[in-house]
Amino acid sequence: MKKNRLFLISLLGLVLLGCSSKGSQFRQRKRFTRNWRFHLGDIKNGQATTLNDSTWRPLDLPHDWSIEGAFSKDNPAGPGGGALPGGIGWYRKSFTIPAADTAKMHFIDFDGIYRDSKVWINGHFLGERPYGYSSFRYNLTPYLHYGTQKNIIAVRVNNSQQPNSRWYSGSGIYRNVWMVTTNKLHVDHWGTHITTPDVDKQEATVEIQTKVKNRDAKQRNISLATVIYDSTGREVAKTSSSKQTIDSTLTMTQELQVKNPQLWSVDSPTLYHAETSIKSGSKIVDRYRTVFGIRKFHFDRKKGFFLNGKHLKILGVCDHHDLGALGAAINKRAIERRLEMLKNMGVNAIRTSHNPPSPELLHLTDKMGFVVLDEAFDGWKRKKTKYGYYQDWDQWHDRDISDMVRRDRNHPSVMMWSIGNEVWGQGDSTGVTIARDLANTVHKWDTTRPITSGLNSPFPNNSLYRSGALDLVGFNYHRNLFDSFLDDFPHGKFIATETTSALATRGEYDMPSDSIRRWPIAWDKPFTQGNDDYTVSSYDNVSTPWGSTHEEGWAAIKGKDYISGMFIWTGFDYLGEPTPYSWPARSSYFGAIDLAGFPKDAYYMYQSEWTDKPVLHLFPHWNWQKGDTVDVWTYASTDSVELFLNGKSLGIRTKSKNKFHMQWRVPYQPGTIKAVAIKNGKEALEKEIHTAGKAEKLVLSADRTQIKANGRDLSYIKVEVQDDDGNMVPRANNEIHFEINGAGKLVGVSNGYEANHESFKADHHKAFNGLCRAIIESTDKPGTISLTARSEGLEPATIKISTR
Ligand code: GAL
Repeated sequence: MKKNRLFLISLLGLVLLGCSSKGSQFRQRKRFTRNWRFHLGDIKNGQATTLNDSTWRPLDLPHDWSIEGAFSKDNPAGPGGGALPGGIGWYRKSFTIPAADTAKMHFIDFDGIYRDSKVWINGHFLGERPYGYSSFRYNLTPYLHYGTQKNIIAVRVNNSQQPNSRWYSGSGIYRNVWMVTTNKLHVDHWGTHITTPDVDKQEATVEIQTKVKNRDAKQRNISLATVIYDSTGREVAKTSSSKQTIDSTLTMTQELQVKNPQLWSVDSPTLYHAETSIKSGSKIVDRYRTVFGIRKFHFDRKKGFFLNGKHLKILGVCDHHDLGALGAAINKRAIERRLEMLKNMGVNAIRTSHNPPSPELLHLTDKMGFVVLDEAFDGWKRKKTKYGYYQDWDQWHDRDISDMVRRDRNHPSVMMWSIGNEVWGQGDSTGVTIARDLANTVHKWDTTRPITSGLNSPFPNNSLYRSGALDLVGFNYHRNLFDSFLDDFPHGKFIATETTSALATRGEYDMPSDSIRRWPIAWDKPFTQGNDDYTVSSYDNVSTPWGSTHEEGWAAIKGKDYISGMFIWTGFDYLGEPTPYSWPARSSYFGAIDLAGFPKDAYYMYQSEWTDKPVLHLFPHWNWQKGDTVDVWTYASTDSVELFLNGKSLGIRTKSKNKFHMQWRVPYQPGTIKAVAIKNGKEALEKEIHTAGKAEKLVLSADRTQIKANGRDLSYIKVEVQDDDGNMVPRANNEIHFEINGAGKLVGVSNGYEANHESFKADHHKAFNGLCRAIIESTDKPGTISLTARSEGLEPATIKISTR
């Protein structure tokens, strides 16, 4: 009996093993990021197989060497590029390929290298790629050694010619790398294209185009079988084709019907996947998985955007790609955390300004439910920055935009393509020609999504509009022109591709709060105002002159259906572009969330307007001088709020149509300021801020106290400087020292201050306005991570994170 049971268990094990390795006998896609070697600086013949790289620094990818460097105004990127170093760097990795894989195809996929990369395998030059945001593949097969002999892959990255960007780019192999192994007959790179031409409640048509590649000299007979699975793994449709002959490539189209489809939406982002099998004779030779969603959408000139037949206002943010203290080195959890914070703010859309994003971002927007405006370029053929993409335009633009569309077109979250941001050429005939040319290229690969562009000259004589290439007219700013849109653009549909550009430093308050400063006076004039400490007030009372405050921006859009949506500049602060200042400031003031991932006050204005959550946000802090008059603001989900100082009512204030904050002017007295949100005459929510005493202790909290032990997962630790009673000390800037032990590493520290020059990679950092951030990464070994924060004169604190 016992023996039988053992037999059954092993049989079950075999079956399970067979299932879990499904596909792996046909193709493998492995992360190829561990155990690289790095050298900062140029090396003559760094690709040579004979070169001894044992003294190079060992590291794992993704890697950004700029973020490890020191801030200096003399770095060629300038403050606009984040004031961090660029330069040239080399990466090498040695690896073996099993002798059994001689008959296979071997590819290396780079998700992105910034910038101007050149790649060699075993000394053989594979190719170059100037644009740092494109994903690309090389075929290694003809140049590989098999068995125990080592292969050497070498990558030269050149980010020495700067400025080549208007923001921080990072430098290096900053995105993931994959090794893909297939049979000679296989689904081509980005070889499937899935669309859902007919969608209704009862049934959806799914059309799948599959491009098959045959790397064998011989002609073959193949057939294609496709199965669609729903999000629970249940088979919901299948089809197979009859046999066809393939020489080197063959594209086949199949149509399947899915009954009672679960539609993808921002609130319920249901995903399906298609599994494509290629058969040669009776043998399966490749099995390929494509994730997709079933949804339909359209833009209406007067009524705006509709997803699955339902009106949806696109409430988006623009964001650059850097991840604060982690720099440009992508980390999926870091991106997920950003998206969580944005979702919580009420955001439902992302503009990937101004370049194709990492693939991980789109996996997450698919999974978490965001509409994406996928953008190709910040500039075209004419110069925007000294060493910018214009230098590569002629040779590369067609390839780069094609690759963006081919890579991203199966993502249900992607619903618009942008062919460029504020490009030169909007006023002359080159704009017409280039826009048409780019639109033709996009349409070659995808015809299901509208094309737009962020126009900073949004007038009907704009060449891009006149070209007829734009399905959606994208306005950057110019809110005074919104209301005449329908008259001025007789054929256009409208999207506010970029709005706001308000400025704020977390925890800083300049009064009077109701006097609005436009900083700088003009984009091309030197800026002579501002604060001595390079801060900007966080009452929503500072904006660029081309932009608006958060409140003005939303007021210009709210309730106007013909404006299908908006994208705030920006969701998060980013490195570079420290408008209105220049050096010593080195990161932006635009974000609703600061560079360390702490929300600024305006975050809660959106939350109160864009979500159904109960919201009551009270600010500023309550540590002022006797005799001061202090403006107190609230953002609330209720229409009115009552304010109390030390128990005494200061009156009820009510929101109005275009005013989303409530304000009181209060003669300061230390003690407690308290807000009570009132709904239907009843107290709904309450918030209090107390005058804080002396800084006495550090308090740590984590976004997650349990993370994966995979060498990539992160825990974000918030460090608060508090008084004895647990009040945050609002101006505390104590220097904090971190000690980490156990199953993790400290990978970044920051505090959100835009003019801070401390390293993001040190084991110490100053708090800024009471807060500091430490980012912890797991190692591969499960265990406990213990992080202790110490600061002179303060009670230290320790937090434990477990990894599994
Ligand atoms: C826009 C531009 C963005 C950013 C922003 C700052 O005009 O598209 O990239 O520079 O201004 O306000």
